[in-house]
This record gives sequence, C-alpha cells and structure tokens, in this order.
Amino acid sequence: MNTPPSFKVIYDTDPGVDDAMALYFALAHPAIEVLGITTTFGNVTVEQAAINALYLTALAGKNVPVTQGVARPCRKPPELPPAHIHGADGLGNLTARVATSNRLDPRASAQYIVDMARAQPGDITLVAVGPLGNLGLALKLEPGLPQLLREVIIMGGTITEPGNVSPVAEANVWNDPHAADLVFTAGWKLTMVGLDVTHRVRVPLSLVERIAQRHHHLATDTLSHAVQFYAHFYTGLYAHVAQEPGCFAHDVLAFIYLVQPELFTLAHGVVRVATEGLAQGQTIMNRRDFLHYPQAGWGKDKALTQVCMQVDAAQCLQLFSDTLMSDWL
Ligand code: BDR
Ligand code: CA
Repeated sequence: MNTPPSFKVIYDTDPGVDDAMALYFALAHPAIEVLGITTTFGNVTVEQAAINALYLTALAGKNVPVTQGVARPCRKPPELPPAHIHGADGLGNLTARVATSNRLDPRASAQYIVDMARAQPGDITLVAVGPLGNLGLALKLEPGLPQLLREVIIMGGTITEPGNVSPVAEANVWNDPHAADLVFTAGWKLTMVGLDVTHRVRVPLSLVERIAQRHHHLATDTLSHAVQFYAHFYTGLYAHVAQEPGCFAHDVLAFIYLVQPELFTLAHGVVRVATEGLAQGQTIMNRRDFLHYPQAGWGKDKALTQVCMQVDAAQCLQLFSDTLMSDWL
C-alpha cells in the first residue's frame, strides 16, 4: 500500500467562511498535517480571526496551536471588515457558540512562524490565505526564512481575471499591498493561487449540506450555516452562481494545489504589486521574460512566482467532496 506524502503546514488565515472550509479540508485530508494556525485581520478583526480559528479547531476535536498576528496593514490605513460577505463574526453570524477549551498560544504569529521554521528547517509549507502581514513581519524577523521553509502557497492576487475589490485587485493583496510585494519578491518557492483559478471553482451549497448530513456533527453544521450566509452574498452578485447557489472555493484551492498540483496549469514570472494609486493591490506578472524591461523593479534578479492560471474544476470539487465526506470527525 502506498503511504500518502505528508505535508507539514502552518496555515495563515483570516477566518472567514472559505478559510473555514479550507481549514476543515486540511484537517480532513490524510496527507496534510496542520502544525499550527497563524491569524491575521482581513475578513474579520485579528481578535475575531483567532477566536474563530480556536473555535473551529475545537469543534473538530483538534488541539492545534493558534496564534494571533497582525491587526492592520503595514503601511496603508485599515478598513472595516466585510461583514456583508462573511458575517460580523466571520462565520455567517452564528446564533450561539458552545463553550470550548482551546486557548491561544501567547506568541505573535510572525514569531511563531520563525520559531517553527528554525526548529524544522526545510520541512514546513506555509499556506497563507489572508492579507500577508504575518509573512512580511516574519521575513523582517528572519531574513533567511525563504531558505528555512519548504514552500509558500498563497491564495491571493489575480493576473487576467477581474479583481474582486477593484477592477484589478484581489481582496487579500488589496488589504496589505506593501506586505504582499515583500512576499512576492522574497525569493522563496512561491505559488500564487489567485482569482484566475478560484473563480473557476464553485462549491454548491447543496454539497456542504450533504457533508453536514453525512456527519451529524457540530463542526460541519457550523460550516454549513456559515456557507449558507456566504453563498447568499455570491448568489446575489453573480448570475452564473445563482443558477446553483454556492460560493467560490478561494482558500480551499491553496490546499488542493498543495496535495494535487497536477490539477493546475502554471505560468512563471516575476510578480510585483502596485502599492499606490488607482491600481493599488494589482498583481502584475512579467509574462515576457525574453524582453529586458529597463524600468526599476523588473530586473532579472527578481524572484519568480509560479502562478496558477487554469484549473480542473470538476476534479477539485470531487476532491473537496471526497475529503470532507470521509471519516475525519
Ligand atoms: C480572499 O479574500 C477573502 O475574502 C477570502 O477569504 C479569500 O481569502 C478572496 O479574494
Ligand atoms: Ca481568507
């Protein structure tokens, strides 16, 4: 019998409904070991993000270390969280929460990332699905971090698909464009899972309901409630989503890339982030590496990013379904 490959992961997240879907996918998948969860502002405040990460792991019966990270963008002014998308509590406005006993690890998220990377050099994959301030700060604490991590996979950005917070910007990059540019130029093995692929994969609400019916468990009931709220937002916004109510799989796809990268078509290039002005938050990829652009910032010395451009949506959905329908709770 083949032993599945094992991926040791630190999950950097702003839960958030699709963040919750991704967390449960990771906890359910036999090849993924979630070593710790680091949290950031984004879909909710960082305090709420940490509360949600603790709550979701406790409901699933897992005692994974959770740390609290950055509370605001590193340079630009903070904005209010999008309560109309994820709910004021980030989980679709739960009517009640049961008491749980999981407690926060006192370390700041950036310090936790550095400590773990130093303790297990070359072993850990960082999957980051929120604004990128914790990674930016960790790079400042430990400039050698790119050599200490196995790889970094981010859900964020977009190359050809229109943005979701401006015509060119995706929300996670928009929320902290300066940190994102640091991450894109840091020199680690970096894969960007952006709207080019996440807008191709829709998770039907009916599937999440079937998962809840299969388990009869508070964890999947909570997820189903949250997805119902989230799907309402997407269904109201996009006519093609309204045909079968559901939501985009955004953050889940970062984990699907981790375990089944063959489901994605990749392009490679230098990616930079516009940090100011009308295009703020735009992720720009140099797709013409045979041209030598003389402008500053596009030199041959800049690190390349692998960018997911196409995806096998049906296979992704099947994997999501098989994993969460399995006996993991
Ligand atoms: C990203 O922004 C957040 O709202 C989602 O959780 C996802 O990480 C999509 O643009
Ligand atoms: Ca997220």
